[in-house]
Amino acid sequence: MEDAAPVVLTAANEREHARQRALLLAHQSALLDRDTAAARRTFDAFAAEILRHAAAEEAVVLPLYRELGGDAAHASPADQFEREHAKIRRWLDALRERLATLGQPPADGELLQILDAEASFKNLLAHHDLRENRILYPFLAEHADAPARARIVAALASAATPDR
Ligand SMILES: [Fe+2]
Ligand SMILES: [Fe+2]
Repeated sequence: MEDAAPVVLTAANEREHARQRALLLAHQSALLDRDTAAARRTFDAFAAEILRHAAAEEAVVLPLYRELGGDAAHASPADQFEREHAKIRRWLDALRERLATLGQPPADGELLQILDAEASFKNLLAHHDLRENRILYPFLAEHADAPARARIVAALASAATPDR
């Protein structure tokens, strides 16, 4: 357990990111099917998942990172992760608004516009996920004790939507 700690924490985070990517893929598949109702529904499921994950990180993971000195030790202070979460929330709102005005079936132009916007968002998300996996979680794996690490894993798991 002790030796596996870095892998366990980063894997616990990455498992949730993989679920988020699967939900986003379901949404984009609905867009490609030109099924606007399904695209909205799957987007809401994706957004709910990612919001719960970010909230768990802000409630449990980032306070620990701060407490254990993550701010001083790295070029990625907790504030930066929080700012990225705020940016992700703004993107989710903007994309939801855009989906609300999408026709049924969507025209080529509006479909391409939303896919372009989602490509930018996916880029932002990929960078955020990468920094968490390279900096945040490895730092915690190194500095958090076993009970704290267990709290992190539990918080991430409980933020995930059950039964998928
Ligand atoms: Fe994360
Ligand atoms: Fe995050």
